[in-house]
Amino acid sequence: MGANYVDLVLRRLHDVAREIDEDDLQPLLCSFKCSMEPASENFLRNVALGHEKNDISRTYLFLEKTNSDVNTIKGFFTVAVKCLAIGEHHCIPDGISRQMNIDRGIAQSYLLGQLAKADGAEKGFGREMISRALGIFSKNNEMVGCRVARLDCRDDLLEYYKSCGFAFIGKNQNGILNQMVVII
Ligand SMILES: CC(C)(COP(=O)(O)OP(=O)(O)OC[C@H]1O[C@@H](n2cnc3c(N)ncnc32)[C@H](O)[C@@H]1OP(=O)(O)O)[C@@H](O)C(=O)NCCC(=O)NCCS
Repeated sequence: MGANYVDLVLRRLHDVAREIDEDDLQPLLCSFKCSMEPASENFLRNVALGHEKNDISRTYLFLEKTNSDVNTIKGFFTVAVKCLAIGEHHCIPDGISRQMNIDRGIAQSYLLGQLAKADGAEKGFGREMISRALGIFSKNNEMVGCRVARLDCRDDLLEYYKSCGFAFIGKNQNGILNQMVVII
């Protein structure tokens, strides 16, 4: 993590939940505010822990100590394994397609399912979170293989994710979200 982020720690939600009182966990999760994407607040409060328990996904929190020594959540991301079905509508740049190990129309991949920073977090913090998520995927790649990371985003974030190194490969099934991949 860069020098600007020395006061931040990245913790798995599961570990935080084990270490603090149940009575303190929900207020901590509820304190996370992301006005640009309120659905992310709902995911963190009501869904993330259940997905941890069922081994569906892992949520990582960026915790920052405030002056009063209380932790606040500056941002979080959620990662999972989710294969990618490649259809005729996909248009994958050759250089990327060759590296995706597509087998009978399926590419194994890691999913960056959620990414949100708290209101007030500085511009660019999202890139730091993406870099940390890709670092986790890289470690998994070393241990078990699989070099594709993916995410789905709305049109208004397409250029942003391109600027973070992701390539657009096509729309998802309902035609609303953009499927993006990066080789790690
Ligand atoms: C996505 C995010 C982590 C990126 O953080 P960052 O790297 O610090 O970059 P910024 O916050 O400056 O966002 C980059 C651009 O995307 C835009 N953007 C971010 N989230 C957006 C959203 N939900 N809807 C529309 N535009 C959004 C920003 O306005 C910004 O546009 P600009 O460059 O024209 O100012 C952060 O903006 C965020 O938490 N957004 C809300 C949650 C979200 O939408 N997550 C994406 C789910 S796919």
